[in-house]
Amino acid sequence: MNKTNPFKFGNIVSGDFFYNREDELLRIKQTLAGGNNVTLYAPRRYGKSSLVNKALNELEKEGFTTIYLDIMSVYSRDTFIKNYTRAIANKEISSIEKTVLKIAKFISGIVPSVSFDSFGMPTFSISWIEGKDKEQTLLDVINLPEKLSSNKDKWIIAFDEFQEITKLNGENFEKLLRSGIQHHQNVTYLFLGSKTHMLKDMFSNKNRAFYNAATVMSINTIEESKSVEYLVSRFKRSDIKIDSDAAMYLLQTVANIPYYIQYIAFEIWQYIILSDKHRVTKDNIDEAFERVLKLKSDYYWELTNKHTAYRKKVLYALSHSVSELFSKKTATDFDLGAVSSTQKAIDVFINEGIIERNQSKYEFSDPMYKRFVNSHL
Ligand SMILES: Nc1ncnc2c1ncn2[C@@H]1O[C@H](COP(=O)(O)OP(=O)(O)O)[C@@H](O)[C@H]1O
Ligand SMILES: [Mg+2]
Repeated sequence: MNKTNPFKFGNIVSGDFFYNREDELLRIKQTLAGGNNVTLYAPRRYGKSSLVNKALNELEKEGFTTIYLDIMSVYSRDTFIKNYTRAIANKEISSIEKTVLKIAKFISGIVPSVSFDSFGMPTFSISWIEGKDKEQTLLDVINLPEKLSSNKDKWIIAFDEFQEITKLNGENFEKLLRSGIQHHQNVTYLFLGSKTHMLKDMFSNKNRAFYNAATVMSINTIEESKSVEYLVSRFKRSDIKIDSDAAMYLLQTVANIPYYIQYIAFEIWQYIILSDKHRVTKDNIDEAFERVLKLKSDYYWELTNKHTAYRKKVLYALSHSVSELFSKKTATDFDLGAVSSTQKAIDVFINEGIIERNQSKYEFSDPMYKRFVNSHL
């Protein structure tokens, strides 16, 4: 019997922790392999990064050179330059010294170097050459992949949480990046991110630099029947039974969002193993949800209390999933004022990533927070 938790949540999952997404995987891989840029958006915690990493791994096996850069960790133009060149240099660990020489040749404003620790592991670093034009250095870095790739060695580069580049001096950075990559013959780009409204605007607004620069795709939650199957077989590895009714109930509690499916399943597994039981009941699911909710309540209070009283009322109304949020009845029921004030509050929540807009419907991005708001406000 398997005594390690078969569920995993947090960041990128791979191997047999990863399930489903075959169609999405194929679509992404084929589009990229065909040399077409892709924009992939979906709310946080739907599994974009995991999916993209799987796609990159498989493309790498098919002969592409792939690079992954998370723009979330990039807070300035300098860190973009540093992290991007490092990601590129680390690609060729076996010939890192050669790569460093090439980087030195193609990028005017930096001196790259590599040192080796006592285990022979390379550490890549750069220093800046004083007085060089930073914008030129940035352009050189942007064009580096095109210089290193070739018709026989095609590259695919993924920028995760791409909308965050708007932090780096806004429009100008976007324009610079676009002006560089639009001439790249042997590099294909994948832009992915969680702030759907920001990404959509970047790629479908005529006035933005990345207008029409990529084929836009999105992913949804995972099909319920596939998740049920997965839950049943993962619990079974530890001799734990969960029938499909209970599995469906779990999925509903977390609105099918992949991260929370894993989170709750992880929690249930832990409890069942310790209690020496062999079957997951609906009560177990409710209890697991409540335990996690309690664990997170300090954080949830913090998240809630920074908002004005009015916004709290709007949040509370949203937690009831009312169908006509802007109707007179809702305004009366939840003591809301003008439609414009309510809309403004919602825009704040969307910007913070608390609320997702799905067509004309609003949903909490965190089903636990929804429950919290519903029962505490
Ligand atoms: N295909 C999948 N199979 C299993 N778990 C998944 C899958 N996709 C997402 N998850 C769960 O969601 C979590 C977040 O995934 P991640 O790829 O970081 O999402 P995103 O990049 O969209 O925020 C993972 O740690 C895992 O628990
Ligand atoms: Mg991600």
